[in-house]
Amino acid sequence: MIQIKSTQEIEKIRRSSQLASQTLDYAASVIKVGQTTAELDRLIHRFILGHNAVPATLGYRGFPASCCISINEVVVHGIPGPRVIQTGDLVKVDVTTILDGYYGDTARTFLMEPVLPKARHLAETTEKSLYLAVETVRHGSRLGDIGEAIQTCVEKEGFQVVRDFVGHGVGLKFHEDPNVPHYGRAGTGQRLKAGMTFTIEPMINAGTWRTRILADGWTAVTGDGELSAQFEHTLLVTQTGAEILTVS
Ligand code: MF3
Ligand code: CO
Ligand code: CO
Repeated sequence: MIQIKSTQEIEKIRRSSQLASQTLDYAASVIKVGQTTAELDRLIHRFILGHNAVPATLGYRGFPASCCISINEVVVHGIPGPRVIQTGDLVKVDVTTILDGYYGDTARTFLMEPVLPKARHLAETTEKSLYLAVETVRHGSRLGDIGEAIQTCVEKEGFQVVRDFVGHGVGLKFHEDPNVPHYGRAGTGQRLKAGMTFTIEPMINAGTWRTRILADGWTAVTGDGELSAQFEHTLLVTQTGAEILTVS
């Protein structure tokens, strides 16, 4: 069942989402080549606690860190650790905050310049596909409209949409209904209603869309070792469109 949030709930989800976005602004200001992902996670952890919030990922189903950091061929759910951030890397940082009990979820791909043209093209196309998908959202639009917007945009550029991970309802809990696939056909799927809050978070691969999970049980990598990019926003459906809640 997809919940419709009350005005009071929406305001709390908005505040948490803004903090999540501010956390990524902070990450952008401190991320650097030579840093380990564990070091970046530590800084993000302190930032979130310093704003009277809690990182939702820490301890979530046993996840051991305060954010996910996924480099290059790592698609999603990278565990911060000893891996060193290098020039040319695509570094996906995904932050979910719990502020006053409410969740905000957002991710960006950071380019450790200089990066190869193909890597830049992948990251830019991924971000563009997210905004094209957001444009489809309003009271009465359908989940399939989102999926088609993303799939059309990225396949035109020769990239592929990851199937194994999808967007999700968010706000009162970390993962709520509905699932939000980043592929599909316009005019299909559930209708959206004003007051729904969910993420769109396309993971786009340079090669195959297939992924596999490493032995740690979390880290998802591309099936062929090629690059992957991701951007994520938490949205509120309104009568006339979508409000992006994860803005800073
Ligand atoms: N933030 C991720 C999402 O967008 C979920 C991370 S779950 C974790 O849904 F356990 F890996 F942290
Ligand atoms: Co999410
Ligand atoms: Co996320």
